[in-house]
Amino acid sequence: MKVSVFGLGYVGSVSMGCLAALGHEVIGVDVNPIKVEIINAAQSPVIEAGLDVLISQGVKTGRIKATTSAPEAIAKSDISLICVGTPSDDNGNLNLTYVERVCREIGRALVRKSDYHVITIRSTMLPGSTEEQVIPILEKAAKQQVGQGFGISFNPEFLREGTAIHDFHHPPFTLIGQYMGQEVKIVADLYAGVDAPLLIVPLKVAEMVKYANNAFHALKVTFANEIGNICKRQGVDSYQVMDIFCMDEKLNLSSYYLKPGFAFGGSCLPKDLRALLYHGHRLDLKLPVLEAILPSNEYQIKQGLDLIRQRGYKKVGILGFSFKADTDDLRESPLVELIETLIGKGYQVKVYDKNVSLARLHGANRAYIEREIPHIATLMCTSIEEVLTGSEVIVIGNKAPEFYPVLQQVSQEQVIIDLVRILEDVDRLDAQYEGICW
Ligand SMILES: NC(=O)c1ccc[n+]([C@@H]2O[C@H](COP(=O)([O-])OP(=O)(O)OC[C@H]3O[C@@H](n4cnc5c(N)ncnc54)[C@H](O)[C@@H]3O)[C@@H](O)[C@H]2O)c1
Repeated sequence: MKVSVFGLGYVGSVSMGCLAALGHEVIGVDVNPIKVEIINAAQSPVIEAGLDVLISQGVKTGRIKATTSAPEAIAKSDISLICVGTPSDDNGNLNLTYVERVCREIGRALVRKSDYHVITIRSTMLPGSTEEQVIPILEKAAKQQVGQGFGISFNPEFLREGTAIHDFHHPPFTLIGQYMGQEVKIVADLYAGVDAPLLIVPLKVAEMVKYANNAFHALKVTFANEIGNICKRQGVDSYQVMDIFCMDEKLNLSSYYLKPGFAFGGSCLPKDLRALLYHGHRLDLKLPVLEAILPSNEYQIKQGLDLIRQRGYKKVGILGFSFKADTDDLRESPLVELIETLIGKGYQVKVYDKNVSLARLHGANRAYIEREIPHIATLMCTSIEEVLTGSEVIVIGNKAPEFYPVLQQVSQEQVIIDLVRILEDVDRLDAQYEGICW
C-alpha cells in the first residue's frame, strides 16, 4: 500500500521503518527539514535499536522517502498516519495544536485529490477528540464531509521506546476506532503482516484504551515502588516479594478485579489496607498511591448514592447486599453503608439477599446481623417479588444468578440502578436502566 506518515518522531519514524519492512511504500512528512534530510540520507532521525537498518534498507529499496510537503505526501499515498506530538499544557490540558495544524494541511491537500483517502490518527488523544476536534477541521479544510472523499479512524500505538520495533511487530492487538466503517478495511490491510488480534471498536473506545493503558502502567510502577519502600524499611527483599506477587496470575496479574463496578468491601481488603497504611506511617513513609485507595472506594459508594438520589424517588429496593454473590459475609459490605445512608436520609428501603436470609435463619451470621445491623434486618424481605412490589428504584447489588431475570420483571415505571453490570447487552441501555460506571 502507499502510506504517508505525518510526524517523524519516535512513533512516526518507527511506523515508517516497520511499514516499509512489511512491504509498503512509505512517504514520511515532517515540518523539520533536518529530520527529512536525515531520512533521505538513509539514517534514523531518532535513537532506536534496529531503526537505522530498517530506514537504510527502506531508502535503498525505494520504499522510504521523506518530504516537508504535505500535498506531495497526500498525492502519493492512499492512507495517512498522523503521528505528531500531543504534549501537555502547564495545567495538564492536552494540547492538540500539532494535530489540528496537520489536519488543516491534510484537508487542504485533499481538495486537490479525487481518489478516496483514509486518515488514521496514531497520536494519543482523549476520548471525543477525533469526532469533536479533528473531523470538523478536516471537513472544513477539505471542503467535503467525512465519508465522501476521505475516511477517518483512530489507531493507537502501543510501542515502548527502546523495544519499539519488536513492539510494532508484536502488539497485544491491532485496535481500530471506526467512524463510518468503509475506512476500516484499508487500515486493517496496513497491518496484514502483523500477527495480532484485530479489534474494531467505536472511536472513543479506541481513544480511551490508550489512556486506560498508560494510567495503569503508571499505577503499576508507583504501586511496586511503594511496596518496595515498605519492604526496604523492614529489611524485606522487595524483589522476592514482587517476584512471588507476579507469579499469581489468578488474582494479581489477570483481568480479575479489573472490571468497573461498585466499591470493594469484605473482611480482608479494607482491614488489611488500613493495617498496611498505619504500619507505613509508623515507619515514617509516605504512601500516596496506597493512601488514595480507601478514599476512592468511599467515593464510589457516594456515586451509587448519587445515582439513586438523582432519580428523585424515595422507595428503594436493594437486591443483594453481601459484598459479593455467594457469600453471607456482611463485614464492611459497601452495600450496608449505602443502605444505612439511605435509611438515614429518610428513604423507604426493602432489601433481599438469599444468602443473608439463610444466615439469619440458620444462625451462621445471625449474631452479626442482630447485633450490628438490626435496623437493616427489619427491612429484609423473603423474596425478590416482595422487593419489586412498591419499590420505585431497584438496585442490583451483587451478581446472584436469580437477579438476572429481574430486568424483564420490572414495570415501565421502575428504575434499575445496576452496580454490578448484570446487563450484558449495553445496547439495550435506556432511561429506565443505569449502570454505576457504564
Ligand atoms: N514516544 C512513545 O513511546 C509513544 C508511544 C505511543 C504513542 N505515543 C504518542 O504518539 C504521538 C507522537 O509521539 P512521539 O514521541 O513520536 O512525538 P515526537 O515529539 O517525538 O515527534 C513528533 C514529530 O511531529 C512533527 N510535527 C509536528 N507538527 C507537524 C506537522 N504539522 N507536520 C508534520 N510533522 C509535524 C515534529 O516535528 C516531530 O518530529 C504522541 O501523541 C504520543 O503521545 C508516543
